[in-house]
Amino acid sequence: MKPAITYELIKQCPHTGARAGRIHTPHGSFDTPIFMPVGTQASVKTLAPEELKEMGAGIILSNNYHLFLRPGSKLVKEAGGLHKFMNWDRAILTDSGGFQVFSLGDLRKISEEGVTFRSHIDGSKKFLSPEIATQSQMDLGADIIMAFDECVPYPADFKYTRESMELTLRWAQRCKDTMTNPNQGLFGIVQGGMYKDLRIECANRLVDMDFPGYAVGGLSVGEPKELMYEMLDITLEHLPQNKARYLMGVGTPDCLVEGVMRGIDMFDCVYPTRVARNGTAMTWNGRLVIKNAQYEHDFHPIDEHCNCYTCRNYSRAYIRHLVRVNEIFGLRLLTIHNLHFLIDFMRQMRQSIMEDRFPEFYRKFTANFSFNAK
Ligand code: GUN
Ligand code: ZN
Repeated sequence: MKPAITYELIKQCPHTGARAGRIHTPHGSFDTPIFMPVGTQASVKTLAPEELKEMGAGIILSNNYHLFLRPGSKLVKEAGGLHKFMNWDRAILTDSGGFQVFSLGDLRKISEEGVTFRSHIDGSKKFLSPEIATQSQMDLGADIIMAFDECVPYPADFKYTRESMELTLRWAQRCKDTMTNPNQGLFGIVQGGMYKDLRIECANRLVDMDFPGYAVGGLSVGEPKELMYEMLDITLEHLPQNKARYLMGVGTPDCLVEGVMRGIDMFDCVYPTRVARNGTAMTWNGRLVIKNAQYEHDFHPIDEHCNCYTCRNYSRAYIRHLVRVNEIFGLRLLTIHNLHFLIDFMRQMRQSIMEDRFPEFYRKFTANFSFNAK
């Protein structure tokens, strides 16, 4: 029987680790490298599914932690699954909740069995384990399900990181043993903190377990970017070429380019949608803070070359006005532009790989991009 999730390698960059491919799921196929918009609570904040489709999104990410607490995975199952519940018929990936639970800090307690935590909503006591998190994601009906892992904080000493990695590996096996739906694929998550030997060991042992895809977790947790790239390099060396590779929680343009150069296929991040609601637009030069006085009389679009709904129809001055007076439409317009920008950014990067000019793309991008645009 064909596995639910397969990765097809289409073109490898001859000069770097970058690769263009295609991932096949029961809810359609999409080109990689890809950026997945985040719809934490079964909605990509402020947008309708039709708008996501118009910008070319082939897969979105949702979150088991949030949906498990509210409205509950059983309710979503009763609705016919997440696709039907939220009216999205393309692919969905759900994160297990491992990351969110560990972000709760003092509100949680880890044991071999799982994690006891207090709900961020009403403080009530809850429990998630590899079995519960996997069953819950099966109920949601996501195409790609993530293993329940421990995301090691930064910094962490070697002993803690090694024991945590061992626990993540035991949990990965338990997640795998819980999987019963052949229409869903479970991805393993490589942990190991900032220790190269642990990263290698974790990758090797997950690969031995044989997952349809592998995520690199525990990065972008406050470490310097150079260290993150080092961990990525070593991890990717130990992941197979014929499976999807996903870098979790990374989505600024500079990190996307660096990740793709090393051979990552999938990314997700709240960054584009979060900064949009903060009044920030993403551009090829960097961030554009639309509230700034310099845009008061600026009747140009955010980006002259952008083909998104926002840039085709509205000026910087208008969006600035909406944001200043707290009109929700302003946040919607910025969210549309930012997601369109990132999806198009990935599309152009993929095109450059297909045409053997990724190194040129990299050089041009690096020359023009600074975190704060002029
Ligand atoms: N999102 C960002 N990083 C991580 C991680 O390490 N684990 C999980 N499950 N989700 C993440
Ligand atoms: Zn635009």
